Amino acid sequence: MTAASPPRPVAAGRPVIVVMGVSGSGKSTVGGLLAERLGVPYAEADDFHPAANIAKMSAGHPLDDTDRAPWLAAIADWIAERGDRGGVVSCSALRRRYRDRLRQAGPPLFFVHLDGPEELIAARLAARMQHFMPTGLLQSQIETLEPLEPDEAGAVVPIEGGPQQIADRALAALPATPV
Ligand SMILES: Nc1ncnc2c1ncn2[C@@H]1O[C@H](COP(=O)(O)OP(=O)(O)OP(=O)(O)O)[C@@H](O)[C@H]1O
Ligand SMILES: [Mg+2]
Repeated sequence: MTAASPPRPVAAGRPVIVVMGVSGSGKSTVGGLLAERLGVPYAEADDFHPAANIAKMSAGHPLDDTDRAPWLAAIADWIAERGDRGGVVSCSALRRRYRDRLRQAGPPLFFVHLDGPEELIAARLAARMQHFMPTGLLQSQIETLEPLEPDEAGAVVPIEGGPQQIADRALAALPATPV
């Protein structure tokens, strides 16, 4: 009998890491630190939104999947451009089908899901100023979230503690690079 192997082994080369989770879970904070620690480029999914999406979110309306299509396509293009040279992108990636779309880009992906108690996330959101995501959308994000499934390469990383501590936790959760 052979030892159990991961359902979706990461291919040779460096995976692109997608830091996922609801608004306020710390994707931008931890994603930037992770990229720095790994010495790979960082991208912020928010920067890939068309202006119309930002306006919609600013008005307090959640995006629908039609709005999200060009956004996900642009992130997928960035991922494809990275190839197997690695990278970190922060992207809520709440639904399985959004993650499937990003996986279509080609390079192996590893999802780091930042997760924690709603009260903690709400407190961090409340402390954050001048950001286009109103805190009222947290509840709908939590309802929308579809956790990683067993066949998806990734790990859940708890968000208690400081940013460096969370980055350490995320680094420890990454797969050993087979290269
Ligand atoms: N570990 C932490 N301890 C304390 N504050 C934190 C921590 N991580 C992030 N923060 C703060 O919490 C707020 C939310 O973090 P961040 O903006 O990184 O979340 P996000 O997941 O990128 O949110 P969004 O999806 O809205 O872009 C920020 O003000 C950030 O500075
Ligand atoms: Mg962010």
